[in-house]
Parts: sequence; structure tokens; C-alpha cells
Amino acid sequence: MSANPAPARRDPGYLGLTAPVATLPAAWYFDPAQYQRELTQIWYRNWIYACRSSELADTRSFRTLEVGDQSILLVRAEDGELRAFHNTCRHRGAALCRGAAGRFPPVGIVCPYHAWRYNLRGELVQASSSQVGDGFEVRDYGLYRLPALEWNGFIFTALTADPPPFAASLDLPPERLDNWELAKLVVGHRMSKIIACNWKVFWENYNECLHCPGVHPRLSQLVPIFGRALLEQRDDPRWRDHAADDDPQYVGGLRRGALSWTMDGRPVGVPFPKLSLEERAAGHTYLTALPSMFLAAHMDYVRLVRLLPLGPERTAMSIEFLFLPETLSDPRCDLSRAVEFTDLVMSEDAAICEVNQRGLHALPHAAGVLMPEEYVVRQFQDWVRAQLSRA
Ligand code: FES
Ligand SMILES: [Fe+2]
Repeated sequence: MSANPAPARRDPGYLGLTAPVATLPAAWYFDPAQYQRELTQIWYRNWIYACRSSELADTRSFRTLEVGDQSILLVRAEDGELRAFHNTCRHRGAALCRGAAGRFPPVGIVCPYHAWRYNLRGELVQASSSQVGDGFEVRDYGLYRLPALEWNGFIFTALTADPPPFAASLDLPPERLDNWELAKLVVGHRMSKIIACNWKVFWENYNECLHCPGVHPRLSQLVPIFGRALLEQRDDPRWRDHAADDDPQYVGGLRRGALSWTMDGRPVGVPFPKLSLEERAAGHTYLTALPSMFLAAHMDYVRLVRLLPLGPERTAMSIEFLFLPETLSDPRCDLSRAVEFTDLVMSEDAAICEVNQRGLHALPHAAGVLMPEEYVVRQFQDWVRAQLSRA
């Protein structure tokens, strides 16, 4: 007799998997050739979150962003337009900017190697030789241009001339977060971590709560349905047995009495004024833009998590906490209860991702198997496969 029988009944609308499904091959999480394929097919072909627009507010300010072995230069030109280029000089390919951020002088961008000079539209203004060869035209040697866009104060860029439509890169319609008025929000705190795992391990962990009861005891108290190892109501095959019960352990959302994702469930800041009752009651609204970011919107703050691949088994995670300006200017608002809670949960996730990564190397482990609750992991893995098979 099985210790885990299949359910006697699956109610209509049940979301979970009904049969075991193989995971991606284990070697895809550490093989350098596979890592390079994923950089080329996924990281260099999709929109990547760079930073808040406020970090490039001043004209001539710049930031660099490293994605795999590519370096991107983002600059706010004199006309106010945001521009992105490969951070590479057209002469002999030196990196133009070595720092992560700064401000160009009025003279523009000067290559540190032989001093070719570009304006902020990326046009070569002057080569440094005292003479040029016959037929050399400065207009032929502008910087390699990349797309960049601003959405609600978030800057995205891409390492391809034809990234997918931006809205199609989000897992919710972009207007779904309108009530948070994201463009207004200000970064009140930042944190970052390097995780010794493949980037996909992070996303797979993000996409299931089977690990929540064991890995996140505090979070499982705050969000009782997570304590049942479920993401939402219809992950339970017999969800209809409790369909009329508004207990958060069945319907999701925060435990009774809690309002936000903080150590004690109390908000840390001024609530977003336009949220509907449903948006408040949900406790969290997630928006994901694979492969580089997700944001979690709560009633008083928004948390943005950005991922960047550093190697087959290393991933950089950075987190921005966004608040209304009123919250940041109010000395009574103590952000630390939100920051501490995120630090706790994300540290638990980072540690368990590293545990997952280490075990994947076992010689006989060709692949794992997904359980019913891991249906969103399956969606992620299908997405990875589809990206890799694109022409
Ligand atoms: S490589 Fe930039 S000026 Fe020579
Ligand atoms: Fe987790």
C-alpha cells in the first residue's frame, strides 16, 4: 500500500499535476555548455531588469549592467532619453566604462584605451589618431545600440535588437499593478546576496510552496495556506470541501489580524491609497518577468527581486524595497520589520537552493520528478525548454 495515495477525487478546477513529470536533466544545472546555451537563448534574448529610473535621473548619468559575459552601458542622454549600448569601444573593443555607475563629463564618453570619443547618442565624435585611413568615416563606428525601456519607473534592457513585446514578458497584464502607482515609489532599502546555485534552481524554488512548511516556519504562520504546502486554494484536489470557508488556510492570504509581510504582520509604512479591498486582503500580488525579476506587492511596500547569472552554479540576487515617499519621510515608519522578514525568508530560500544545487551532482541522478503541488515548476521548465528550442 502506498503511503501517499492518489486522491480519491479531484474537484473541477484543481490546478495540480495529476501524474509524475520528469524535471529538467540534472546536468543542466551545472554543465558549462548548457549554461552558455541558456545565456545565448534566454538571457541574451529577453528583457532584463536593470535599475530604477531614479538611478539614471540626471542627464549624463550612466550605469553598467553585467549579464553573463556581456556588459551593457545605460545612459541618460542630454535630451532626457534613456539609451543602452554594449559597453564596448568600436576601435579595438575595450570596455568603455569600468565602474558600475557614474556621470559622464560634458565631453561625452571617452574610451580609456586610445581615447576615441562618443556622444551620448552613441555616435563616434572623434577617433584619436592624428590621421585616418582613406575612406574611414566616423559615422560607421557608432556604439552598438541596444533596446531600453522604462515601465513605471523600472528600467529594462535587452541584448538583442528584437526582444519579445514587453507586456508579453510579464506573467500578469501590466495594468494589474496600477493601484500600487509604482512610478511614484522610492527605494527605501536594498540588499544583495550571491547564491551558490544555478539560476533555474532559484526560480524553481520560487515556483512552489511544497518546501514552505519545512523551510519557512515564520512565513507559513503568516500565510497559512503556505503552511499547507500550497500556493493557492485550488492546489488542493478537494478544494471544494472548503469552498465556502473563508479561513486563510483554505482561501490564501495573510493570517487573520496580519496586514503585511513583516515580522509581526503590522504594516511598516503608509498603505497604498488606491488598493481595492481584494488587493489588500490578498496580502501579496506577484508579478514575474523571467528570467531576471519578480516583484511582490504588499499593502504598504513593494519588494523587487532581481536575479543575474554569474556562472553555472552562481547567481546574484538583489532586492529593492519600494515605498511611498510619505513613508520614507515619516520618522515613525520603521522599515526594519519588513526588511528583517524578507531577509529571513530570502536567506532560508538561498540556503535551501544551495542544498538543492549540491545534491544535483550525484552520478546516478539524471533527473528528478515533480509532485502534484509543483505544477508551476513544470510551467517554468516548459518555458525553459521552449526558449531553448527557439530558432
Ligand atoms: S579600444 Fe577604444 S580607443 Fe582603442
Ligand atoms: Fe521559499
